[in-house]
Amino acid sequence: MNLPGPGDSSNMSLKLQIAASDPLKTEADLLVLSCTEKGSAAAVAAIEKATGGSLKELVARDDFKGKKDQRLLIPTMGKLPAAHVALVGLGDGKTTDAGLRVFAAAAARLAVSEKARTLAIAAPEGVGGERLRFLAEGVVLGAYRYDRFLTGERRAKRVLGAATLLLKGKVSPADKAAVTLGQAVGQAVTVTRDLQNDPPNELTPAALAQAAVKVAKEHKLKAEVFDRKKLEAAGMKLFVAVGQGSVNQPHMVHVTYAPPKKAKKKIVFVGKGLTFDSGGLCIKPAQGMGDMKTDMSGAANVVGLMAAVAALRPDVEVHGIIGCAENMPDGAAYRPGDVFGSLDGKTVEIINTDAEGRLVLADCLAYARNLKPDLILDNATLTGACIIALGNNCSGFFATSDELAEQFASAAKEAGEQFWRLPLLEDLKDSLKSDVADLKHTGDRAGGSITAALFLREFVGSVPWIHCDIAGPSLSTRAYNIYPKGGTGHGVLTFLRFLETLA
Ligand code: BES
Ligand code: MN
Ligand code: ZN
Repeated sequence: MNLPGPGDSSNMSLKLQIAASDPLKTEADLLVLSCTEKGSAAAVAAIEKATGGSLKELVARDDFKGKKDQRLLIPTMGKLPAAHVALVGLGDGKTTDAGLRVFAAAAARLAVSEKARTLAIAAPEGVGGERLRFLAEGVVLGAYRYDRFLTGERRAKRVLGAATLLLKGKVSPADKAAVTLGQAVGQAVTVTRDLQNDPPNELTPAALAQAAVKVAKEHKLKAEVFDRKKLEAAGMKLFVAVGQGSVNQPHMVHVTYAPPKKAKKKIVFVGKGLTFDSGGLCIKPAQGMGDMKTDMSGAANVVGLMAAVAALRPDVEVHGIIGCAENMPDGAAYRPGDVFGSLDGKTVEIINTDAEGRLVLADCLAYARNLKPDLILDNATLTGACIIALGNNCSGFFATSDELAEQFASAAKEAGEQFWRLPLLEDLKDSLKSDVADLKHTGDRAGGSITAALFLREFVGSVPWIHCDIAGPSLSTRAYNIYPKGGTGHGVLTFLRFLETLA
């Protein structure tokens, strides 16, 4: 059996084009048209006229009114060059950038489920130029599949190979550039998803580090790898402690994007990359361990983000710190009661070996601070408590100032991703006091996401800082919005949007 390696993906082969063409004269396995609630009857009538048939039954059956996300799938029986037409509702038609992305993702997802090889999407009324980027992103995100390990009968015989965005009038160079950028951004998110979905026997810390290096090379970014020896030499004792119970050695990667012009700002993104979190000696129950191959989602987000940044080329110096380790029980594993120093200098008493993420992050944050950035943003599948607080589809975030929090919250909103601010409650700091070291790394069960954030804050010094707890939305049990079942890449688009507001 000859399987592709970690990070190799069939999602890079989708051909995405743009053309000035009349939708009803366009050949495709599936043609997707949008309509508003007001324009729904007219859109139906236009298809009836073109096909010479009646859609009365079908419209009544689906109660199709052009409401947001409502869809009507129509076989054209050879009456149109397209084999199927789908009408997708846009509601009042006031589509945001994120709304365009969801629309295009719905179209692509429909194409995949209908086994279409070719898809044509008519750009909604008035959408052209820069905003075509979001349609392109949506197509790539909606068409996402993870099929590395599917063989024989389980391999799809018909895959979506080409998608075309249809424009009225002429296609300008700006239109083309927007589609190219959107495709690159969409593909960057699929890199993240592939890494999330890769199994932990293959995606070891070294393999995740290699994947980060590969992305850096492809995009001509600088990458420095820290293996265990180098991590030890640097003094990253907490990071090494987490990884010492696994035969798969810890690694860190530092990727750098330097803008062509002088940078307006320097920002460091940090990601938790636990390729598997068994809990260590404080081992998790089987039920809680099942999803822990995606405990590297924060790191995967940073890898994908760096690819997107390379495509976007903002006037900001961007650093990505990818902290990779595996948390295993073993004779060499770290234990409750252990005390370790850290890159920052503070000593930490280990309480629960399952609170490993904050230890890896603590050293990565101290490393990030030494780069003297204007801002540090970390993201991690850090606490189950965050899922209890906000549910499965919303991330928590913490910020060191209200201004920063507002800026980040708007970026998330514009990106169409759910993030909700949680407070850094000072009085909970008491629970991190240790009798034998400067700090304990866990507090009480109550407020678990907050005490984790307060612990991390000890390592960022006075640098403005945002911490995102993505434990819930990084993985999904179903497809929704732009997200597939499995690894979602939730966060990448928000971080990218946030960067754009800084540039
Ligand atoms: N990776 C987990 C957090 C997690 C849980 C992510 C469920 C996604 C889904 C983290 O390392 C962890 O185990 N956290 C503990 C902390 C506790 C021991 C203080 C938790 O949340 O239970
Ligand atoms: Mn854990
Ligand atoms: Zn973890």
